[in-house]
Amino acid sequence: MDHVLLSEEQIREKIAELAAAVAADYAGREVLLVGVLKGAVLFMSDFARALQLPTQMEFMAVSSYGSSTSSSGVVRILKDLDRDITGKHVLVLEDIIDSGLTLSWLLKNLGGRAPASLEVCALLRKPDAVKVEVPVRYIGFDIPNEFVVGYGLDYAERYRDLPYIATLKPEVYA
Ligand code: PRP
Ligand code: MN
Ligand code: MG
Repeated sequence: MDHVLLSEEQIREKIAELAAAVAADYAGREVLLVGVLKGAVLFMSDFARALQLPTQMEFMAVSSYGSSTSSSGVVRILKDLDRDITGKHVLVLEDIIDSGLTLSWLLKNLGGRAPASLEVCALLRKPDAVKVEVPVRYIGFDIPNEFVVGYGLDYAERYRDLPYIATLKPEVYA
């Protein structure tokens, strides 16, 4: 670990803000939260609890990184949704938008399944790393283009369990 970029407290406050915005926008509708495993697992769990709306939860597992620190651009479905999302108000929860390749691929894939609506809520975005612009309705934090771990984000499957988000010392992955 190098330094803490976002503390537990900062993450908690931001999730409360995001949940309030989503609750206002989706009032009267039932939201289907689609968490993108594995990175979004902690975010999904805290966001769903903060959201004052009836929701359903689904998970999809995709992977583009493998054990490298930069996106390969090749997205694989490791686990698909269990249910049809036709006519559902789908809100995709992602931990981070880095190059944007994962989400851009995912939105095309999910968009083809005829949801009533399809939006994204991402906790983190690295504006300087974006290769593909992705329409994202809700963003938590824009962060510098450094490798970050914790709160679901891994380096070679480690550090996901940290309750905060920290930068990783370059010598760890160099
Ligand atoms: C990470 C992260 C996002 C994606 C962002 O997932 O959780 O899903 O990469 O990168 P991109 O914008 O450059 O596509 P990863 O593929 O590492 O799988 P994981 O969630 O299981 O860690
Ligand atoms: Mn991921
Ligand atoms: Mg990963």
